[in-house]
Amino acid sequence: METGIAMDHTEFKNPYLRTMFTEQQIAERVEELGKQITADYQGKRLVLVGVLKGSCVFMADLMRHIDLPMEIDFMAVASYKDGTVSTGDVEILKDLTKPIRDKNVIVVEDIIDTGLTLTRLVDILGTRGAKSIKLATFLDKPEPRINKELKVDYCGFEIPNEFVVGYGLDVAGRFRNLPFIGVVTDPEKV
Ligand code: IMP
Ligand code: MG
Repeated sequence: METGIAMDHTEFKNPYLRTMFTEQQIAERVEELGKQITADYQGKRLVLVGVLKGSCVFMADLMRHIDLPMEIDFMAVASYKDGTVSTGDVEILKDLTKPIRDKNVIVVEDIIDTGLTLTRLVDILGTRGAKSIKLATFLDKPEPRINKELKVDYCGFEIPNEFVVGYGLDVAGRFRNLPFIGVVTDPEKV
């Protein structure tokens, strides 16, 4: 459709993004994580709980490398920030559709930064009688971590303290559809 609005149709080649992980690198690593989970959860009732929206791409790829009978569910949370710093307050915007009692849960996140969102989420899920709760994150930024006790069980890549987008991760809602991970080099222009 002709809209008359000048649109750049090549967001994937945005000059203000520097590639950190290519599609190929991501695919290889996610396959490894799926195999690891498959080995670890033999004979167990597994449910992957994706944290919307950021985890959707990782979740979709990861589950296709888990060769086990399993279920998926999703939660959406709002994490409150005081300026740019997470306060650790989390509001559940969308809850699970089924109980997790006696199931083995893996919470699937896009990225862990301060760790406060996930700490709070694990506290909440911890009251619901799951047999076990583990964490899988595609990216981990250990440097800004506030809760140093948070144990990450499955991690795609550890990254430096840089703002990244793509593969589900956004800046102001954009770039979740990028098939690679890019560092935002100029937040004003991107
Ligand atoms: P925290 O661990 O509570 O600080 O919050 C993690 C959340 O902050 C993630 O689920 C993302 O939504 C967001 N976030 C943190 N770092 C980045 C980034 O580099 N790019 C995009 N979103 C990020
Ligand atoms: Mg998130």
